[in-house]
Amino acid sequence: MIGENTDAYRLFDGGADGMPGVFIDDFAGHWLVQTREVEFPEALCREPDPACRSLWWKNLDPEKKHSPEWKWGQRPEQPFPVRENGLRFLIDFSVGYSQGLFLDQRLNRAETARRVKAGGALLNCFAYTCGFSVAAAGAGAETTSVDLSKRWLEWGRLNFQANALDDAAHSFCRGDSFEWLRRFARKERQFDGVILDPPTFSRNQKGKVFRVEKDYGSLAALAARVVAPGGWMLCCTNCRALDEGALRRMLRSGIGESGRGLNEMAARPMPPEYRDEKYLKSYWIELA
Ligand SMILES: C[S@@+](CC[C@H](N)C(=O)[O-])C[C@H]1O[C@@H](n2cnc3c(N)ncnc32)[C@H](O)[C@@H]1O
Repeated sequence: MIGENTDAYRLFDGGADGMPGVFIDDFAGHWLVQTREVEFPEALCREPDPACRSLWWKNLDPEKKHSPEWKWGQRPEQPFPVRENGLRFLIDFSVGYSQGLFLDQRLNRAETARRVKAGGALLNCFAYTCGFSVAAAGAGAETTSVDLSKRWLEWGRLNFQANALDDAAHSFCRGDSFEWLRRFARKERQFDGVILDPPTFSRNQKGKVFRVEKDYGSLAALAARVVAPGGWMLCCTNCRALDEGALRRMLRSGIGESGRGLNEMAARPMPPEYRDEKYLKSYWIELA
C-alpha cells in the first residue's frame, strides 16, 4: 500500500531488490510475479507473505505473451478494482498479456490530473484502457481517448463508470492515432493537453508501420498541431533502444516542424519504487 489511496504499485524490482529478473506488482493484494530469463521463485508459494491474497506468474519472454498463470491463493473475481490516488481501475489477469493498468505511469497520471483544468480538453492517444483519461476526467476535464482496439476502449468506459464518471460525456475514438490527429487538425480542434504513449512498434488497419525510434518526431509534429496555445504534451516511451538524448532531439525537431514554439521540455522520473531499470522515458512539454 502506498498511502491510503493507492493499493497498486511495484512491490519488488529485480536486481535493485536483490533478485535480478524477478519483478512483483501488487494489485490490491494480488501479486503478479514477472520473470525475465529466470525461473518462477517457488519459495513464494511455500512461505506466502501474510499481505498476499493470491500469486500469479507472467513470463516476460517476448515469445510467450500469455495471460498470467495462477500459482497460489484465493483467486479474485475478475475484473477486480484497484485504487490509485483515490481512483479505481479494473484489473483482469485472465484476458491476456496486459492486466489493464500500467503501474509505471502512476506519477504521470497524477501529473495529468494536476495539469488539466476543469472544463479543459484532454486528448489521450494510444489510450489503452483510458487510465490517463480517467485521471483527467476525475479532475474535471473533457476527455477524448483514441485507440485501435474497441476492446480496450470498452474497458476504458468501465473504468469511467467505476469512478462514477459519466462515460457518455466523454469521447472514445476507435482507430489510428495518426489519422485521428490529422482529422482533428483539419477540423481545427484544439486540446489543452495531449498525451502520447505509443507502443514501440505498431501496424495500423491499413498495414502502415510505426517505429518509435524512427517515427516519434513525426508523431510529435502531428500532435503539436492540435495543442491549444499555451497547452502541453506528455510524450512517453519505454523503448529501450532509444536513449534520452535521441528522444529529446526527435521531439524538438518534430515540434519545430509543426511550426509551434516550445517553452519547456522537462523529463520526469519513474515512480520511486522502480529502482532497477529506468526504462520509461517521459517528457512534459509546454508549447508557446
Ligand atoms: C503502450 S499502450 C498505451 C498505454 C496507455 N498510454 C496507458 O498508460 O494506459 C499502447 C496502446 O496503443 C494502442 N495502439 C497501437 N497502435 C495504435 C495506433 N496506431 N493508433 C491508436 N492506438 C494504437 C494499443 O491498442 C494499446 O492500447
